Amino acid sequence: MTQAAFQIQSTIIVLLMVIGISLRKDRRKHVPMMLLVIFWDIILVLQIELTRGAIAKASKVATNTMIMNIHVTLAISTVILYFFMLYSGRKLIKGDRSIKPLHLKVGLITFVLRIATYVTSYFIVIR
Ligand code: HEM
Repeated sequence: MTQAAFQIQSTIIVLLMVIGISLRKDRRKHVPMMLLVIFWDIILVLQIELTRGAIAKASKVATNTMIMNIHVTLAISTVILYFFMLYSGRKLIKGDRSIKPLHLKVGLITFVLRIATYVTSYFIVIR
């Protein structure tokens, strides 16, 4: 799998996330879309990790740059927040409306972090 294949998947995931958030008032569309985004994004992280392991062995000269560390931190934070979104989304479906403001707030933070992960990924590709 090439770097371009990861970037293409990442672009589609971000676009699906925008669509899923814009459909937030329609839970029959919002829920499956966000589940697809979270599932696919975690699969993408796994794909990158598995192949990066191989790349790291092949190119020992590569050092961890500042932007790489920032990017990885953003990516890990996003995945952690995905689990909270699954938890709070499940509660909403079960009828607990008290968690809605938190789902909204953390959802927006998750979105900002995902965009930042996306943007920083391009700086790593260029290097
Ligand atoms: C990163 C993932 C997600 C983001 C960014 C996100 C974002 C949002 C936002 C912004 C709202 C509107 C809240 C409001 O207007 O106060 C919302 C509503 C909702 N979300 Fe999510 N969400 C995500 C994942 C999920 C998941 C995984 C589920 C279910 C398992 C879920 C279930 C719901 C439900 C049931 C509502 C209420 C819809 C309604 O108004 O009837 N969300 N979400």
